[in-house]
Amino acid sequence: MSSTTTASDLVASAEALVETGRKTIADAGSLAELDDVERKLLGKASPLNEIREAIKSVDASERGAVGQAMGAAREALTEALAARRGGLSAAARAASLVHDRLDLTLGGSGYRRGHMHPVTRIWRELEDVFVGLGYTIAEGPEVETDWYNFEALNFPPGHPARAMQDTLYVKLGKPEEVLLRTHTSPVQVRVMEARRPPIYVVALGRTFRRDTLDARHSPVFHQIECLTVDRGITLGDLLGTVEAFIHALFGPNISARFNPSFFPFTEPSVEFSMTCVFCEGAGCAVCSRTGWVELGGAGMVDPKVFEAVGIDSEEFTGFAFGFGIDRVVQLLYGVDHVKNLWDGDVRFAAQL
Ligand code: FA5
Repeated sequence: MSSTTTASDLVASAEALVETGRKTIADAGSLAELDDVERKLLGKASPLNEIREAIKSVDASERGAVGQAMGAAREALTEALAARRGGLSAAARAASLVHDRLDLTLGGSGYRRGHMHPVTRIWRELEDVFVGLGYTIAEGPEVETDWYNFEALNFPPGHPARAMQDTLYVKLGKPEEVLLRTHTSPVQVRVMEARRPPIYVVALGRTFRRDTLDARHSPVFHQIECLTVDRGITLGDLLGTVEAFIHALFGPNISARFNPSFFPFTEPSVEFSMTCVFCEGAGCAVCSRTGWVELGGAGMVDPKVFEAVGIDSEEFTGFAFGFGIDRVVQLLYGVDHVKNLWDGDVRFAAQL
C-alpha cells in the first residue's frame, strides 16, 4: 500500500475483502479447497495482513477505526468459513453414506454347509429303524476285558474261534486280559448282566481287529449288535427282524438270505446276506457273480451265555445278530474300497 493511504482507504479495503472473500468461500467445492481459501484469506500473506502492516502509516488517532474494520472483516470471514465448512462436511457425509452403504440384504460369497459323515448318517438311520421296531440303544466300552469280549460269549481261552477275530491287546492288567473289543457282542453280556428280560436292545460302536486293510476290511470299523430276549422268541423272529431292517434301509426289492454258520455264543448260528444292490441279484463283480453280499452273523442266544449272566434258558430264549456298518455304507453308496471312507478327503465325502 502506498504511503498516501488513508484510514478510510483501509476501512474500505477491509470491507471489500469481506465481499470478495465471501464469494471465494462460497465457490470452494471441497473441504480441501476451503482450507486453501482460509489460508489465502486469513493467513500471513493475506490482504488482511497487508492492511495490518499499512495501519502503521495512518494517523494514530484513526487507527482505531481501521482496527475495528479489520476485526469485523476477520470475524465475518471466519463465520462464512465455518458455515461453508459445515455445509461441505454434511455433503461429504451424505455422499459417503450413499457410496459406502452396507447392504445387509445382499448375499455374500458364503460358506458351503457341511454334512454328516456317511457312516454317521447310516448309524443314525439304523438307530431310527430299530427304535421304530421298539428297541432301545445300549452302549459299551471300546476297551474291553477278555471276559466280556470272549469268555462270557463262550470263547474259552485257546478256543479256535478266537482266531477268527485277530485281537489287539492293551498293556493293562494280566497279559492278554484287556483288549480293544473285536465286535459289539460284549455289549450283549453287559446288558444281560444289568437287566432282566424282556430285553430289546441295539448297540452301535467302534470295533477293532488286527486285520490287514483291503477293499472290505479295515483295522477300525463299526458294528451294530441286536439282542432280543423274551419268552417264546424263535429263529423266525430273527429272520423277520433282519428282513425288516434290510427292507427299511435298501427297499422292498432287496431280500435277505441265511446260511448255516458258527459262532460260539449262538446256537444255531447263521450268516446273513442280502441281494446285491448293484445287480439286484443278477450277479456282478461286486458280489463275485453270486447275486448276494454277506452282511453279518446271527443266531439264537446259546444257553451257555444265559448261564454266564444268570438268565434261565428254560424260561427265556433270544436271538442276536451283528453286522458291519461300514459295509452297509459301502453297499448303499457304491464305495469300492473301505479306505475311501476314512481318508479324510472332503471331495469324496461330499459326493455321498
Ligand atoms: C461278529 O463280529 C459277530 N459278533 C456277529 C454276531 C453277532 C454273530 C451276534 C452272532 C450274533 P463277524 O466276525 O462275522 O461276526 O463280523 C460281522 C461283520 O462285521 C462282518 O460280516 C462284516 O460286515 C463286519 N466286519 C468284520 N471285520 C471287519 C473289518 N475288518 N472291517 C470292516 N468290517 C468288518
